[in-house]
Amino acid sequence: MIKLHDLYFKPFISEQEIDTAVQKMVDGIADDLGDEVPVFIGILNGSFMLVSDFVKKYPKPCEVTFIKLASYEGVKSTEDIQRLIGLTQDLTGRTVVILEDIIDSGNTLEEVHRIFENENVKQLIIATLFYKPEAYNKDFKLHYVGMEIPNKFIVGYGLDYDGLGRDLPDVYQLKTTQHMTNIVLFGPPGAGKGTQANFLKEKYDLIHISTGDVFRFNIKNETALGMLAKSFMDKGELVPDQVTIDMLNKEVEKNAGANGFIFDGFPRTNAQAKALDDLMEDKDSQIDAMVALEVEDEVLVQRLLKRGETSGRTDDADESIIRNRIKQYYTKTAILKDYYTDQNKYFGVDGVGSVEDITVRLSSVIDKL
Ligand code: IMP
Ligand code: MG
Repeated sequence: MIKLHDLYFKPFISEQEIDTAVQKMVDGIADDLGDEVPVFIGILNGSFMLVSDFVKKYPKPCEVTFIKLASYEGVKSTEDIQRLIGLTQDLTGRTVVILEDIIDSGNTLEEVHRIFENENVKQLIIATLFYKPEAYNKDFKLHYVGMEIPNKFIVGYGLDYDGLGRDLPDVYQLKTTQHMTNIVLFGPPGAGKGTQANFLKEKYDLIHISTGDVFRFNIKNETALGMLAKSFMDKGELVPDQVTIDMLNKEVEKNAGANGFIFDGFPRTNAQAKALDDLMEDKDSQIDAMVALEVEDEVLVQRLLKRGETSGRTDDADESIIRNRIKQYYTKTAILKDYYTDQNKYFGVDGVGSVEDITVRLSSVIDKL
């Protein structure tokens, strides 16, 4: 992933794939033109890399020149096209091949046609490395297309976003979700997860998604997914991962503009962790870290027994039940610890100390993500 100005872009087309597409254009044009000596005309600035690579591959004699006109500001195609600079050569009777980096709306191409109308060329051939069929709204024939791409903004290989990115040898695509910080928060019962989640969500402006809460909400409001989940629970069966993932997906989509999420209570298995990775990837995002509060068993037992004195939670009153819950936690999360450690995303944080101290420790992990 790269950042240009304020936006994030993800790898989209590799140098190797671009090379193959350029070669395909070269082969097609060289075959069709035979011994004709063409004038290749690159449209600056975007086409400089393409033209350079293209003519190096072109197997026969040719001429090369550049003209300049620009139609883009920021990431939107604008209607007003600037004046032409650089066409000084007499092209009467010549075969002219326009080499474009990209054809989007076709406005630039329309301008090109207008300009060449009075040049008395033998033929005007249009070749473009990238072409966005969904954006194109003109009727001019595109004789050679290197690659059709979806209607999303790209940078690299000559193409820029407000001046940056032209130098990149690969092509990157604008991420539909801008950068999020997504954390999976873990901790044994009594570690202070809830307390810390509340601080973190305030401090980093994150959305806290507790799967337990999401379930209860969907069931209470009798949503389709809630009813589906309940049908499994009523039979005493586990809710299938896909149902949970669909619910999380809805939560993430509801908060598409968020700075990020704190996932709490999910994932619990390898398969779920993978499903969560896929979900985030689908959103052009990622899980950045599993942050686990680490607290010694004896401290947890004491904390929970103390909580049990006032909370009235039966599962907090009995020491053997408490110990069993703690043991369960370690058995279950060990797998996840490995899963995230393999991706260098596991961060254990000492969960003993004052609430403030622990928040500071958690923050120092999050600040580095
Ligand atoms: P058109 O006139 O809308 O066809 O757009 C052509 C010009 O817009 C190109 O020469 C580029 O300068 C710019 N452009 C179109 N799409 C993109 C893109 O995805 N990334 C960067 N520049 C683009
Ligand atoms: Mg261009």
